[in-house]
Order: sequence, then C-alpha cells, then structure tokens
Amino acid sequence: MATYKTLPGFRDFYPEDCSLRNHLFSVWRQTSKRFGFQEYDGPVLESLELLTAKSGQEIVGQLFNFEDKGGRAVTLRPELTPTLARMVGAKANALPRPVKWFSIGENFRYERQQKGRLRSFYQFNADILGEPGPIADAEVIGLLVESLCNQGLRAGEFIVRLSDRNLWYYFIESLGFSGDQATAALGVIDKMERMPPEKSEAALAELGASDPAKVLQAIQEFQELPDVCAIAAFLDKMDLASDAREKLNGRLEAWRELLSLIDAAGLDHFVKVDLRIVRGLAYYTGFVFEAFQTVGKGRALAGGGRYDDLIEKLGGASMPAVGFGMGDVVLMDLLDELKRLPKLIDKADVFLVYSGDDAFKIALADAYALRRQGLRAELSYKGAGMGKQFKQASSSGADFALVYGPEELAQGIVTVKHMRSGEQQTVPSAQLVGSVLALWREG
Ligand code: HAM
Repeated sequence: MATYKTLPGFRDFYPEDCSLRNHLFSVWRQTSKRFGFQEYDGPVLESLELLTAKSGQEIVGQLFNFEDKGGRAVTLRPELTPTLARMVGAKANALPRPVKWFSIGENFRYERQQKGRLRSFYQFNADILGEPGPIADAEVIGLLVESLCNQGLRAGEFIVRLSDRNLWYYFIESLGFSGDQATAALGVIDKMERMPPEKSEAALAELGASDPAKVLQAIQEFQELPDVCAIAAFLDKMDLASDAREKLNGRLEAWRELLSLIDAAGLDHFVKVDLRIVRGLAYYTGFVFEAFQTVGKGRALAGGGRYDDLIEKLGGASMPAVGFGMGDVVLMDLLDELKRLPKLIDKADVFLVYSGDDAFKIALADAYALRRQGLRAELSYKGAGMGKQFKQASSSGADFALVYGPEELAQGIVTVKHMRSGEQQTVPSAQLVGSVLALWREG
C-alpha cells in the first residue's frame, strides 16, 4: 500500500507539537501587546505581481507560484512585508500614526531544504509605520530582543547585528558606483561572508569597479569596523567630496541617536554594530539588523530593517516603515538544544467514572454541565469496569474523579474523590455542579 509523506520542507504537527507552537505564538502575542502592537493578518495567497513589483523576477525561483483556475498568476506568500505595505498603504490617511502592527502566520519559500530552513514556516512579524525617527528602529529592536528573552533565551546566547544600508550605499557611491550598480554591489557585499574573495572581486569588476582589488579591500576594511567611533575615524581619513561627506555624517548622527536609545532601554549588551550585515531583500533603505544565535550553529533567528520607500512604490502614500520577521524553526531548534522548551501541562480537571448505561447518561449530562462552567470534564466512551476507569482518571491528570456507582445512583448522590489526597465526600446529584466548582477552585 502506498504511504504518503509530507512534502519536502513541510511539517505535520502532532498534538504535542501544536501545544508547543501555540505556546511560542502566545509568548510572541503577549510580548507584542506589552509594546502596544495590534494584531493583523493578510491572505496566504497573493498576486505574483505584488511580490515581483519591488523584488524583481529573480525572486520567482523562491516562490510557490502557479496559475489559478481563473488564469491569474498567484503565489503563496514568502513573507508578509509586501502584504502589510499594501494594507497600510490603502488606508494610510485613516490610520492613527504610528501604526504598530504584528502578525503570526505561515509563509512558504521554495528553498533547498536544510536544517533551520523549511519550505513552510511560521513567522512573527512586527512593524512600525509612519514614524521616521530612530525611536521606531529602537522599539522594533527592543521588541525583537524581549521576544527572544521571553521565549527563554538569555543575554550571550544571541546577538542583534546592526548595520545600515544607507551608510553602505553612500560608502559604495564614494567608491565610484551609482544607481543600479550601487544596489547590485550591496548584493555582492551581502553574499561576501559566504563567497571566496576572488569571486567577490570578479563580481565587483563586472559591476564596473575601476580597481576591483582596491574596492574590495576598502569594503573589507569597512565591514570590520567595530563601532561608530571607528567608522567616523575611517571616513575622516578618506578623500571624500563634500556632499558625500555630508551624507555619510548625516548617517553617523542617526547611528548615535539610535545607539543612545538602545542604551537607554538597557539593550546595549544585546546589540552590536556589524557592517557585514547588508540583508538580501532589496526594499531595505536604512538601518538593517539580524539576530543570530551565538551558541550552537550560529543561525539567523530574525531579520529586519527600515523600508521607507516600499509603501509608496506599491502605490500607497509615502510612509516610513521599519520592522522584522522572526521564524519558528531556528528558534524552536535552539530552545530544544538548550532544553528550554517548557513542559506544557495537558490535563483534565475532572474525570467521571460510572457503572452501567443509566449512570453513563447521568454522568454525560453532568459532564456537559461542568464543561459549560469552563471545566475540562472527561469520561470513558467504552464503559469499562470502574477499576479501569479509575486508572484512566489518574492518567488524565484530573484533580477529581466523580463516581456514579450503583449505590450513588440509588441514593441520588455522587462521590467526589480528590485524586491526590484520596479524600472523598458525597454530594447530592442536584447540587453537583456548584459543589464540584467550589471544590475545584479550592484545589
Ligand atoms: P527574512 O530575513 O527573509 O526577512 O526572514 C526573517 C526570518 O524568518 C529569518 O531570520 C528566519 O528566522 C525566518 N525564515 C526565513 N526563511 C525561512 C525558511 N525558509 N525556513 C525557516 N525560517 C525562515 C523577512 O522575511 C522580512 N519580510 C522581515 C521584515 C519584516 N522586514 C521588515 N518587516
């Protein structure tokens, strides 16, 4: 007989997996709410054009795209940012600013399956729109850090590497690139960590660098600068045109402001300046960041940044924006490795034990009455012997067993047994619900 497996990169969630996933989501939700973010969602299926409009055709290689039965070019969403940009753009004038929204949902990327990277994954997104100043960047970075801490990670186990695409852009311009070439050079820099230097040099030559070896060296030196003082000193030594210097100094001012906010929030030991981060997605315009685990495999837990042009480019109003996405896969793996996944308790409140058909009907009616009061009430469907049912009651984790034996039935009572202490008492059937509720609340 054929057996059917999940498709590559997709997962089944058995009940224990679902409980853990729900827990992860509820921590994300709770943390977002503490920061004043509101939840939203969009469709998982989008028009292909929404995704290619800003990112170009290259992105199609990573998409689950197809033609629907109406002949539309559509795709499962690989990320939520274009959807969010459309949603906010369409109502920009009606929304009180800043817009602080978060979402948790399934995304799909047709990637080569590897540890930490799947074709279907959940992503927590949090974004602030309509606030141009560094306070918005600081707040989303703060939410990112607090979310990871609330999930169980500690300082020293992850780091947010902070960089700046605008600073990079102005720096690349000063090395002789402009327009599309400068953007393409950022793409080369993004891949440098994973590429041999000869290849990077060849790619820079292809983009028109007059002295690619020198350009590569300047880029490599720039990437290694550890803090704002070092960046300022490096730029001071460069022979720059005055407008280039002005633009670069403007960015350094923004850096100082952002870092002082990060300090004030007590987050400085979670964040470090790291210009090796450039981010692959083309819509980013300013500060960009990525959170990496610093224990184990060093994988990316989250990534984000500023995208001040995207909403307007997708046809909406001009509106600055910054945010991040955090996946469930790497985070879950890391919490598992560190043995920080919570032991989630899945237990009944009361278990009803009965003897015979008549007792079953009475017990069933009582189970519904108790469920309507909010208790988790369970009973055997098979009517096995009472001894066996008591065993089921015990393995269900119930605090109380309610006993409907022949004697109880004859006297119009129910025996209520406290499972941990073994103490028991009888209550009249007519007062069962109130009495059990009171006992259950006492514990
Ligand atoms: P991203 O860097 O493509 O950014 O993804 C963010 C995070 O989603 C990654 O760090 C990783 O945890 C998770 N992730 C991405 N792809 C996969 C995959 N194939 N399998 C498992 N996890 C994955 C974005 O998506 C931006 N839209 C984030 C953003 C929101 N920027 C501004 N606002």
